[in-house]
Amino acid sequence: MCGIIARAGIGDALEELVVGLQNLEYRGYDSAGVAVRRADGPITVCKREGETDALEAALSGRALPGGTGIGHTRWSTHGAPSDANAHPHTDDSGRVAVVHNGIIRNHESLRRELREAGHRFRSETDTEVVPHLVAAALDDGADPESAFRAAVARLEGSYALAMIVDEDDAVYATRRGSPLVLGLGTDANYLASDVPAFLEFTDRVVYLEDDDVVVLEGNTYRITDVDGTPVDRPIETVEWDASDARKGVYNHFMRKEIDEQPVSLRQTLEGRIDGDRSELTAFPPGSLSDVDDVVFVACGTSYHAAMYGSTLLRRRGVPATALRANEFAHDPMPVSERTLVIAVTQSGETADTLASLRVANDLSARTLAVTNVVGSSAARGADEALFIRAGPEIGVAATKTFSSQVAALALLADRIAADGGGADAYGDETAGVGDHGGAYDPDSVRSDLESLPTAVETVVNDAGAARLATQFADAESYFFIGRGVGYPVALEGALKFKEITYEHAEGFAAGELKHGPLALVTPATVVIAVFTGRNDELTLHNVREAQSRGAPVVGVGPASATTLRETVDEYLPFPRTDPNLAGIPANVHLQLLAYHAAEIRDRAIDKPRNLAKSVTVE
Ligand code: G6P
Repeated sequence: MCGIIARAGIGDALEELVVGLQNLEYRGYDSAGVAVRRADGPITVCKREGETDALEAALSGRALPGGTGIGHTRWSTHGAPSDANAHPHTDDSGRVAVVHNGIIRNHESLRRELREAGHRFRSETDTEVVPHLVAAALDDGADPESAFRAAVARLEGSYALAMIVDEDDAVYATRRGSPLVLGLGTDANYLASDVPAFLEFTDRVVYLEDDDVVVLEGNTYRITDVDGTPVDRPIETVEWDASDARKGVYNHFMRKEIDEQPVSLRQTLEGRIDGDRSELTAFPPGSLSDVDDVVFVACGTSYHAAMYGSTLLRRRGVPATALRANEFAHDPMPVSERTLVIAVTQSGETADTLASLRVANDLSARTLAVTNVVGSSAARGADEALFIRAGPEIGVAATKTFSSQVAALALLADRIAADGGGADAYGDETAGVGDHGGAYDPDSVRSDLESLPTAVETVVNDAGAARLATQFADAESYFFIGRGVGYPVALEGALKFKEITYEHAEGFAAGELKHGPLALVTPATVVIAVFTGRNDELTLHNVREAQSRGAPVVGVGPASATTLRETVDEYLPFPRTDPNLAGIPANVHLQLLAYHAAEIRDRAIDKPRNLAKSVTVE
């Protein structure tokens, strides 16, 4: 949510700033803007409502020489999308330009105070107070760095800020509660909300801590704390490849990332399974033996992965529950020092999830971040981190990271259960009508995890979802149902469908359909039923209930489950895999269904309306 980029160094900044904004667009696309300090002194600002294309059109043919600049892509919180509300924001005289990600909570009182002192505001944003505060300090004789520090000292809330000032060669930046990472190039240095912004220019990064103040000048940089004392932050090399963050031959990042899943899953699993046990470097055998119970906190797609993980743990006899991070943060459940609180977050920067982590830390629980981003706030804010190694994900709708989260959580569940001796909670008697039994056999899960990338590859290459997206394009509603690990997959299927098609889609526990939602089922409702090979006959009852009301049913299930195939109206098969893992290939079918349904409707698949990938405000 909101992306910021800054650049200082040799050569012109503009082109790299625009590339950075294009790479950050998944964080917001309500408006985009840049401010460049011309080599001969003044700052030029160009900003436009809409996607970066509109900014590029406005910039075309304009020469903006100068090596120092800042840029911003916006997801609106204060003030509607408009040219005036677009960043960068400046003071009255245009001497100071600022970009911001986050929310300044005390902006109203600061605005009142500044207005009384004669400052004129041109936007409705919380951000605009910052350049005015800086300008006021400059007027009082402060140098740019002191003026920046003085302004920041007045702010309450969360922010990543970058500023340039007239007739000064530097970029000044800081963060508190919003992400900001420093990229070290050869001729220039960069600051951005996320690594993909500058990955084409450098893979050497410094992860900044809250309240660090960074000054980029020429091609040098300086990091100090809030008092101005130099701080030493390690330089790290990012393992992501710049090409991973580009669309290549694809029309959409989402499709590229769906297709990447066989590879990303292999990366997640590589070296982490050794015959009869899961090998997680961060968690050697015995390291989780003091865990009595597990609480997951997460949002969006990550929450569905967390639900999936909690189901696996319960099946291994470990008490586990998944809560929405935005609820846990303000109404936490009781936890103890022997509770492991696991924050599942792709970006590692979701504000709600970070707030939950802080609460869990305060309550003295043991905390763990399961995340895709090394150096993210979650990875650093939790006691421990487990990386899902899915590679950069750019499409706003999460796809490959869900698969990798679930696979990583399956490994983790195996390790927790092995350490804690959790007894299998269920027996064979729950076997379904699919071709699998119902027991949790850890050896089967581990061995099928190894073949999962191949199973997913088969689904990625299946044209069934594309055909059904067309066949059911005129439906009024799309209901997704499933039980066990099929339930979070049903929720995820519905989330994906609604966020990129804008159609009415809901996910339900299959057994819950008859307790209310069935009232909405008509022949114009498509019911998509997820089967995993466990308790499938129960789900089949629910399918028949929907069919009796005239609803067409699409089954997603094991290839060899003939009873299922014969009962449902359409079937999306996936290769045999352990029922505890079957939700992963099933979900890939649902990703493709949503993708093709959105494509038919000509939706902005990678940038769905009103949404952003990384939501850094609560
Ligand atoms: C936003 C995104 C979702 C994502 C959720 C959690 O709402 O639009 O796609 O699942 O944030 O993000 P996280 O980075 O914590 O997994």
